[in-house]
Amino acid sequence: MIERNDRDLTREVVDLTGLTVSALARKLRVKAADVSAWIRGRSLPPPECVEVLRELIERTGVSEPLPGPRVQRPRLESRIVCADSREYISRLPDESVDCVLSDIPYGIGLAEWDVLHENRNSAYLGSSAAQKSAGKVFRRRRKPIRGWSSADREIPAQYYEWCGSWAAEWLRVLRPGGSAVVFAGRRLAHRYTGALEDAGFSHRDLLAWLRPRAVFRAQRLSVVYRKRGDLAEAKKWAGWRVGNLRPAFEPITWCFKPYAVTIADNVLDHGLGAMNADRFSSLTGSSDNVLRFGFEEGEGGLHEAQKPVALLQALIELCTIPGQVVLDPFMGSGSTAVAAARCGRGYIAIEQDSGLCDLARERLALIPQGQPGDSGSIRD
Ligand SMILES: C[S@@+](CC[C@H](N)C(=O)[O-])C[C@H]1O[C@@H](n2cnc3c(N)ncnc32)[C@H](O)[C@@H]1O
Repeated sequence: MIERNDRDLTREVVDLTGLTVSALARKLRVKAADVSAWIRGRSLPPPECVEVLRELIERTGVSEPLPGPRVQRPRLESRIVCADSREYISRLPDESVDCVLSDIPYGIGLAEWDVLHENRNSAYLGSSAAQKSAGKVFRRRRKPIRGWSSADREIPAQYYEWCGSWAAEWLRVLRPGGSAVVFAGRRLAHRYTGALEDAGFSHRDLLAWLRPRAVFRAQRLSVVYRKRGDLAEAKKWAGWRVGNLRPAFEPITWCFKPYAVTIADNVLDHGLGAMNADRFSSLTGSSDNVLRFGFEEGEGGLHEAQKPVALLQALIELCTIPGQVVLDPFMGSGSTAVAAARCGRGYIAIEQDSGLCDLARERLALIPQGQPGDSGSIRD
């Protein structure tokens, strides 16, 4: 039986659980547009959804607040910092953050901030006739992905070296059992994962973010031969392409800082090391290590490598408790800080571009007053 107050039920669930509209829609196996319509009172949820919504409300009532950690640490205030994170993090106290969540530069020349090597050979940063006549992506990268010269082939090792220039400092400032959850490109994922491991992190898992949109750009070989006037080869190689399959997922490396005691004791000492599987499932719709998230309406378009806040929030809630501090050394438009503030965690979010720091502050200012975490104070 649907009651009049079922009109407010969906809004109540969203407010109480912190679930996003799309996560709730996944849970209820309906469209996000339906959930939005229920929240706005344009239609009512069907009886089977009303039942699940009521269950969700009941479940939020029984959870006990988690106790504080046994080992106390200095209290860090939340902040957006405009700086080179490698320099700034070197000034943070040992074991002062609980999680590092970052979408680090990929080392593939996606934008100026993504050129992390000394290779200035003409194939990489020059302007050949082919480069000039090429499309937008090629113009940006200024080279084919595999490289034409031996100097290009040194780029992966140089990227590893660059990752090594900050990985040990991340380990130092992280508390034992704390997670480092890192997004980066598929092509050099093995390099940044290796750099983290070589700095002392333990590798826990590799997760995949399934992007809602990804463009298949592999170039047709027949087009290349046709442009050369070689119609016979163009015909022979019809259907073949050069490049990669459609990049449907982005890898997320999940590492943690090793601890000296049992994991059960480490959880009591630092509140770190275990994962909140129930909360993660309620935010993502499953306990899979494949995460399906898109942008909320009006959220995207702030940064060429922007990540959905709801995705970051699910990862934060997976491995931290309210009041803990999340560090993002490469914050871009501030998505990690917004996600942390939204779920009552503190944040230290660092970006070298001052325009992006202003943007992040604007985004944080939009988080409603009274929502957990917006005071910026950290219990530690
Ligand atoms: C992959 S993007 C992050 C985008 C972010 N996920 C978002 O949602 O907006 C990486 C960012 O790191 C910044 N960056 C690169 N090197 C840096 C450094 N040494 N210190 C601080 N920021 C840096 C770049 O300017 C870029 O905005």
